[in-house]
Amino acid sequence: MSAAALIDVAGITKDYVTPGGVDVPVLHGIDLAIRRGEFVAIMGQSGSGKSTLMNILGCLDSPTAGRYVLTGNDVSALRDGQLAAVRNKTIGFVFQGFNLLKRMTALDNVALPLAYAGVSKREARRRARAQLERIGLGEFAGRLPNQLSGGQQQRVAIARALVMEPALVLADEPTGNLDTQTSNEIIDIFVKLNREQHMTVILVTHEPDIAARADRLVRLKDGVITYDGPAATGPSGARA
Ligand SMILES: Nc1ncnc2c1ncn2[C@@H]1O[C@H](COP(=O)(O)OP(=O)(O)OP(=O)(O)O)[C@@H](O)[C@H]1O
Ligand SMILES: [Mg+2]
Repeated sequence: MSAAALIDVAGITKDYVTPGGVDVPVLHGIDLAIRRGEFVAIMGQSGSGKSTLMNILGCLDSPTAGRYVLTGNDVSALRDGQLAAVRNKTIGFVFQGFNLLKRMTALDNVALPLAYAGVSKREARRRARAQLERIGLGEFAGRLPNQLSGGQQQRVAIARALVMEPALVLADEPTGNLDTQTSNEIIDIFVKLNREQHMTVILVTHEPDIAARADRLVRLKDGVITYDGPAATGPSGARA
């Protein structure tokens, strides 16, 4: 592993077990190294295992087998509580459905990770407000999620993902529920974060035009990586 590797995944497999006790193998041995500052798009058909992989990379779930080293620490065998602590400190997660708490204002949604980390309420609100302002939503801080457009809700979710200043942002189809123009605005935010703040971004998308804005593309098929290379160019690039 190179010194600058942020993520180093070797031989990761994931089997789900259904309530009926049937073993469902989903990932079949994933090797992936991602350096700090990379912008990686993940594509693949529905059911190919993209979200399963993202949930493991994001410490929301553990692999069945294999090794996952994140920022130099082996997180493969951590229990739920330890995994949650790593997640809160190191990773910002953005989901397709925004996943904001409905009864909380935009400000309190963004402040939530800080509250979990034990930051005082006053300081958490101050930092959450600054993050909302940075993303152009300062004036919407007091709104509930249902008083915001889809694009605004996703920006709140991005502010929440960034408020702990994570090493890594993971976004699983962040534009899946948005129209084309709003999608472009959301992707612009990720591109800017990557280019200007050197944030490491891993983004799942079905849209070739979105994937083409990343530096690197990883294609998944039936739980294996079938392409890992430049995003925009070549016969297997995003627009291929
Ligand atoms: N909790 C679970 N229990 C059993 N099988 C699961 C579970 N979660 C996902 N799967 C199965 O794992 C496979 C991969 O699912 P995953 O959600 O990773 O796909 P995906 O590539 O993200 O698809 P999509 O593009 O539709 O979001 C699918 O066949 C799915 O049915
Ligand atoms: Mg998915």
